[in-house]
Amino acid sequence: MYLLELGGEDDAFAAREAISAATGVRRIAPGLAVANAVNPERVRGLAYTHRASDLLGRTDADLESARVLLETAPIDREGSVAVRATDVHGSTGVSTERAERELGSILVNRGFTVDLDDPDHVLRAAFSEGPLEGGGELEADEETGDLFAAAGAEKDSLEESVSVCALGWLAAESVRDFGDRAPTDKPFFQPGSMDPLLARAAANIAGARPGATILDPMCGTGGGLVEAGLVGADVVGTDAQEKMVRGARENLEHFLDPETPSPTGVARGGWAVARGDGTRLPLAEDAVDGVVFDAPYGRQSKIETHRLEDLVAGALEEARRVAPRAVMIADRSWASEARNAGWGLEAAFERRVHRSLTRYVLVLERREPST
Ligand SMILES: C[S@@+](CC[C@H](N)C(=O)[O-])C[C@H]1O[C@@H](n2cnc3c(N)ncnc32)[C@H](O)[C@@H]1O
Repeated sequence: MYLLELGGEDDAFAAREAISAATGVRRIAPGLAVANAVNPERVRGLAYTHRASDLLGRTDADLESARVLLETAPIDREGSVAVRATDVHGSTGVSTERAERELGSILVNRGFTVDLDDPDHVLRAAFSEGPLEGGGELEADEETGDLFAAAGAEKDSLEESVSVCALGWLAAESVRDFGDRAPTDKPFFQPGSMDPLLARAAANIAGARPGATILDPMCGTGGGLVEAGLVGADVVGTDAQEKMVRGARENLEHFLDPETPSPTGVARGGWAVARGDGTRLPLAEDAVDGVVFDAPYGRQSKIETHRLEDLVAGALEEARRVAPRAVMIADRSWASEARNAGWGLEAAFERRVHRSLTRYVLVLERREPST
């Protein structure tokens, strides 16, 4: 079993993304999840998981319990070690320095040498306390498709406070290079570009990986396509505006250059961008594996020839025709439009960007018509 250290402010969303790199993901404490198996190459490309470690065991979030766990846990490794501890969100008050020292000396007693600079193995010790909240996860009304905060029967048990210390041998870390792709630093920038972290998570959830093809039918500056391409997917984009098509090509050329070594270790995907209408895509049925897009926000994006509602409804229908799965980001829910377009709502998340801006992330699975 593996320990996942989650990042960002919404554990439910982070756990949803982690499913693209792991099986049996379940949250165990604020900022922490466990998984049955992980794909280390895919973990390197996750936005909201920082690390995956081979779980040694878990106990309560205090140093004494952690010590007992480490003294008794079976260890099948040898060589040099370093212990790295974290107190998630400062929730436990455990001194990470002391934890590293004390757990390190237990490992020395068990025959290891300590090498802080270049250890053969890193032992992660994660301490976390607090309620396992639903986070920004939303549920949809069966009839109307309206979204509301995930609640109900599960909520009481989810809100119970938990206290966890998890120990594990570091197995894979995600590459934290998102700062290099801040929208304003890209060769082509326009307001409304996707934040690279959110875009990466959306791409991963939509199925971006080597061998898959991901479409953004309203690609704008190509923020979603760049992130999908960096984890190895081939990417296809369309946009109604020629300026955006040219700009997206500039960004993709820059970030998906096949000659540049890839930080995640996978070859960058190929790409193509053309001018096109997202409501009438020049693609065959099932042409791609997944769609990722952020719908125009009405005020920012130029909407060519469509009312916003018709545009979104049309784009959702087309997306369903060409792909079995889509991740849509928007400034409002659009859940009933998605349902009307034949999508099932697999999950929905609310992400507060700042006080007056909330983004909705809808994870959509094609619903087959009932016969
Ligand atoms: C919110 S922006 C997308 C931003 C993009 N994800 C990025 O990272 O830059 C929406 C885009 O939809 C495009 N658009 C509007 N109507 C369209 C249509 N009918 N077909 C295709 N693209 C359209 C706009 O030109 C705009 O670039």
